[in-house]
Amino acid sequence: MGALRNVVNPFCTFLFLGLLLHFASLMPKTNAKIHYHGFFIQATPVKRLCKTHNTITVNGMYPGPTLEVNNGDTLVVKVVNRARYNVTIHWHGVRQMRTAWADGPEFVTQCPIRPGHSYTYRFKIQGQEGTLWWHAHSSWLRATVYGALIIRPRPGESYPFPKPKRETPLLLGEWWDANPIDVVRQATRTGATPNVSNAYSINGQPGDLYNCSKKDTIIVPVKSGETNLLRIINSALNQQLFFKIAKHKLTVVGADASYVKPFNTSIIMLGPGQTTDVLITADQPPAKYYIAARAYASAQGAPFDNTTTTAILKYKTTPCPTKCTSTKPVMPSLPAFNDTATATAFTKSLKSPRKVEVPTEIDENLFITVGLGLNNCPHGARRRNCQGPNGTRFTASMNNVSFVLPSNFSLLQAHQKRIPGVFTTDFPANPPKKFDYTGNVSRSLWQPARGTKVYRLKYGARVQIVLQGTSIFTAENHPIHLHGYDFYILAEGFGNFNPKRDTAKFNLINPPLRNTASVPVGGWTVIRFVADNPGIWLMHCHLDVHITWGLAMAFLVENGVGKLQTLEPPPADLPRC
Ligand code: C2O
Repeated sequence: MGALRNVVNPFCTFLFLGLLLHFASLMPKTNAKIHYHGFFIQATPVKRLCKTHNTITVNGMYPGPTLEVNNGDTLVVKVVNRARYNVTIHWHGVRQMRTAWADGPEFVTQCPIRPGHSYTYRFKIQGQEGTLWWHAHSSWLRATVYGALIIRPRPGESYPFPKPKRETPLLLGEWWDANPIDVVRQATRTGATPNVSNAYSINGQPGDLYNCSKKDTIIVPVKSGETNLLRIINSALNQQLFFKIAKHKLTVVGADASYVKPFNTSIIMLGPGQTTDVLITADQPPAKYYIAARAYASAQGAPFDNTTTTAILKYKTTPCPTKCTSTKPVMPSLPAFNDTATATAFTKSLKSPRKVEVPTEIDENLFITVGLGLNNCPHGARRRNCQGPNGTRFTASMNNVSFVLPSNFSLLQAHQKRIPGVFTTDFPANPPKKFDYTGNVSRSLWQPARGTKVYRLKYGARVQIVLQGTSIFTAENHPIHLHGYDFYILAEGFGNFNPKRDTAKFNLINPPLRNTASVPVGGWTVIRFVADNPGIWLMHCHLDVHITWGLAMAFLVENGVGKLQTLEPPPADLPRC
């Protein structure tokens, strides 16, 4: 029944049907379960920073419900849109083998769910364990529409580390004292950068250091001597975050729902989209300790939200005679906002627990630049629509293509039904022009071309991608996320990738397996994966401000041979455009 507790009342028929199917599913000998959920997208009054906003939520919850499953289980989530915006839900990091229709990015794998309509996502969790999450994938709705997706080992199997006493998901979020949709619409109108957020949050609460927030600060209880598992998720829209707990060591055991070789650290860094599982032992004098997160801001001179969100790690055994509440929690010292050395040291510490099968032969060798740009003010446009630097408009691109979503079909529908004119398959495997990517880039290279271009991959192709950051306008760290796949991160470095020098640095033994890579500021990252999942898969920067500007592309992975290598047919209730 646990799987049903987030389903709300008016949904009885579905629930009942779900129950029947639920029990039916338990009949076969396999112990894989089917979990049914109802997600009602609705505006709900949420008060933060002294002010109430009519916030878009799932089932009135902010953050939304936590989904808990075992590896091998199936999720069936009916999403009912009772809000006034189009919406879709993406299951971030779920491989979606042959079920691309359930992936969720708007106009990529589906048309949006219109207000008043619904769509049921069905997919199976296969071979993934750890922490993932779900979020809206439509405009900036994910600012408030997100939640955790916890995947435990199959029944009877265990973690590759001692069983923790307690498990706590910690979702790091970002809050605007405004409607986030208005914030992005204003930026799109003016061409300038969107307003930065007013707060970060932990499980939806900004914490002690913000106005009107103290009494709702999240408390994480611990017992002296116990070891607990924290599942940390960066669900912020536009900011990489440092995360630290005063006086406590963290043992990193997983990232992006893959286990890692355990290592100790006092600080972690997560780009939006990334998750990190850590063990923490309550081995300090019983007291209160702040859990804190604040920005890792890699771009020089760019505005960012420089506030700090906190929760409290509270020892249960705290002797509490009289003035217990007056004892102040211990505050950790966080790295400087621009501490790239600390950020990089962390990402480089991640390794797979043992030797893994990295493809050594490569069929597709791609080199993709990722970065910003500035468009000249279009002819006839008004000044107020060109408020970027020197009367320009901000843009972004991969290999000089600024990605434009279609609006009358999804890419996947167009692919499956062979509808011409929706996309082209000429996304370039290399930048159209070679230049000093991280040097002083000539102004003539600052304006990308707009396009809806995909890159075609044969089923089973072994793919290597060099993700090369650029310093066009400004260099910055980009969290690059690939839908439908996990990939190995072979190496990263600063400056321009040089195959002669840098190939020697590839870790072909135990590279980490992730779904989101932090491409270092003014640097590069090399990833590899096997294209074994047919469909159309978006790859984009997980800073929503950058995806808004076009920092994205998509792979079209062809079907292979036979049913098990072929995309399933679309569900009957797939939304129409
Ligand atoms: Cu978590 Cu396309 O995103």
